[in-house]
Amino acid sequence: MRFLKFILCFIVFQVSAQQGGMWIPSLLEGMNETEMQSLGSKLTAQDIYDVNNSSLKDAIGHFNGGCTSEVISPKGLILTNHHCGFSQIQSHSSLENDYLKDGFWAMSLDEELPNEGLYVEFIVSIHDVTKDVLSLVNTQMSEKEKQSVIDKNGNVVLRDWKREAWQNVKIKSFFKGNQYFLFVTERFEDIRLVGAPPTSIGKFGSDTDNWVFPRHTGDFSMFRIYADANNRPAKYNKDNKPYKPKHFLPISLDGIEEGDFTMVFGFPGRTNEYLPAVAIEHITKAYNPTNIAIREAALKVIDAKMKSSDEVRIKYASKQARIANAWKKWIGENLGINTSKAVEKRRAFEATFTKALKEEGLENNYGAILPEFDRLYKDFETINIKRRNFIEVFFVTNELMNMTLRAYQMEIATAKFLKGHVMTEDYRKIENERALKKAIEALKNRLKGVHKNYDVAVDKGVFEAVMPFYNKNVDVSIYDTTAFTSLDSALQLLEGEPNEVIKKLNNDPAYQYAKPMIEAFYNEINPKYQEKNAPITALQTKYMTALMNVLPEERYFPDANSTLRVTYGQVRGYSPRDAVYYNPVSYLDGVIEKYVPGDYEFDVPQKLRDLYDAKDYGPYADKNGKVPVCFLGTNHTTGGNSGSPAIDAEGNLVGLNFDRVWEGTMSDMYYDPEICRNIMVDLRYVLFIVDKYAGAKHLIDEMTLVHPKQ
Ligand code: ARG
Ligand code: GLU
Repeated sequence: MRFLKFILCFIVFQVSAQQGGMWIPSLLEGMNETEMQSLGSKLTAQDIYDVNNSSLKDAIGHFNGGCTSEVISPKGLILTNHHCGFSQIQSHSSLENDYLKDGFWAMSLDEELPNEGLYVEFIVSIHDVTKDVLSLVNTQMSEKEKQSVIDKNGNVVLRDWKREAWQNVKIKSFFKGNQYFLFVTERFEDIRLVGAPPTSIGKFGSDTDNWVFPRHTGDFSMFRIYADANNRPAKYNKDNKPYKPKHFLPISLDGIEEGDFTMVFGFPGRTNEYLPAVAIEHITKAYNPTNIAIREAALKVIDAKMKSSDEVRIKYASKQARIANAWKKWIGENLGINTSKAVEKRRAFEATFTKALKEEGLENNYGAILPEFDRLYKDFETINIKRRNFIEVFFVTNELMNMTLRAYQMEIATAKFLKGHVMTEDYRKIENERALKKAIEALKNRLKGVHKNYDVAVDKGVFEAVMPFYNKNVDVSIYDTTAFTSLDSALQLLEGEPNEVIKKLNNDPAYQYAKPMIEAFYNEINPKYQEKNAPITALQTKYMTALMNVLPEERYFPDANSTLRVTYGQVRGYSPRDAVYYNPVSYLDGVIEKYVPGDYEFDVPQKLRDLYDAKDYGPYADKNGKVPVCFLGTNHTTGGNSGSPAIDAEGNLVGLNFDRVWEGTMSDMYYDPEICRNIMVDLRYVLFIVDKYAGAKHLIDEMTLVHPKQ
């Protein structure tokens, strides 16, 4: 009996241990491949990543550096989240053409809308260049020396790497600088908007449902990649042609059920899975709370004004979503860290580490790391919070302060002179003046951008709400006298000879108010932050090395760093608390259950209600005759995985990743396989909306629909 219990324990441990991790696609052979197959996958490592033949990775594009997208047709049609395309959808919207509210569907190629600045990047190949990058680095070097050798080595590798003229290369650090990989990439820059559902579908549930399950959001939008006559990356040109991809994902109409294998393939942004307990404490007790408080204050103002004016709603939609998204995530993260007792568990793990150090006689090498972390974080807290509050006020929430900050950057703009270049005073003066002129022009453009989505009353309200978090002296009167609150007067202020502009600028009341704070930030706060943060970063590198040496049996994967990764698991529900269990699949019935007529979060379009009443589902219902909307999996994801495909055991698209569950948002620091789940839109819901709701059947016809389960 005891023996059996032991075996059972072992099996349970094995199963739950086979979870978590964001893996490098070129290194799946061996452990990952076996693990994936044990979870039900029929894919080989080469099906996923292959340099010589087309493979799944050729369908995965980094969407504008912050999200993921996947190719779903031979004509370069790509799928991503509604919230990933949100600012593009917003920028094409106006009171007359309210694509946010009503949705948008291009009924032919000519109607697809270009988007300046938007790009999609594919990974051509991945190469381990650790040996070259770390060559001549040794333990005697200071951190600075080390970094400069690494940078130099990296530059040589990049310079000499063989690539095609239209390709780029970059090197990224993994395992905190213990490993380096080079990526050959292709970046497409003519990306056009093809379709988006109305916000009442694409953002159904809005902030109330964000980060929460049960979920009923159709969080998707579609774009198309255009390429030049040779099918290569090109800037926008109306004569460009739809891109012919090396691979596109077939879409399964058979969907998923509990226990099915899924893998999520995309570009996770940032995780911190190897932090010491003291760092998690700092984040949850000091860092998150201050961020939450400032954003809450700003959101109170923005939300109220957005509800009372359509014009404000359109202008602030994207900004509000960005501010609210992280705000809510931090709250969930704190809750999750508390209820999962992550800090205590990390301390227990640290005790194991320390014990192993003693046993292996490695105390001299690594014994000082953990106490040193304690000391460094104590020293870091005040300055980190001060700096963060500045960023929240001057970069994230308040536009007027942000405009003064940009103006300050203009004022201090000087020409960049080459080191060792001998030059006369006159020459220096002329070049500096030229740089200043350029900076003034750049500032003008930036202000034009800000004012496109600016409302003085909203911004003044935000100012009153957030500034007290940074400075006791809150002078609202600057809003009545500054030139920056209107584009005309701001541009007027920037007219004239540079000297004159600087003089006018320094007479502006908002600038006079903000400048001392901005100077303090650049001259004292930020440098001090850098000084306190650098040794923490260096120690984290050492800790990573130590962990892998001292406890080699643990499951190590490199923290997310915006590079292409594979994560995998199964479709699973979860139990967030006693007596509560969430089924892994939600249905259209749930959309109707949540429907609140006219509500800004839970309204449901008439057409969708009609389709529901008539049960007009086409081929998109499951075998019980219901349309699945969202589902859960044990895939370990983070921000940046938005828009990532969920792929079935055979390599077909079944879902579109867009979120995580409330109780599991702490997975960036502490992944708990029991309650961490990612949320995906079921592809059948996507197709149902495109076909039945939007009547864009021509897009469905481009795709390849399959029935792997029949
Ligand atoms: N929480 C998801 C992510 O982090 C979705 C955000 C978009 N949805 C929203 N209601 N703002 O980005
Ligand atoms: N919605 C997130 C994003 O924009 C993905 C969800 C997450 O953070 O897990 O990337």
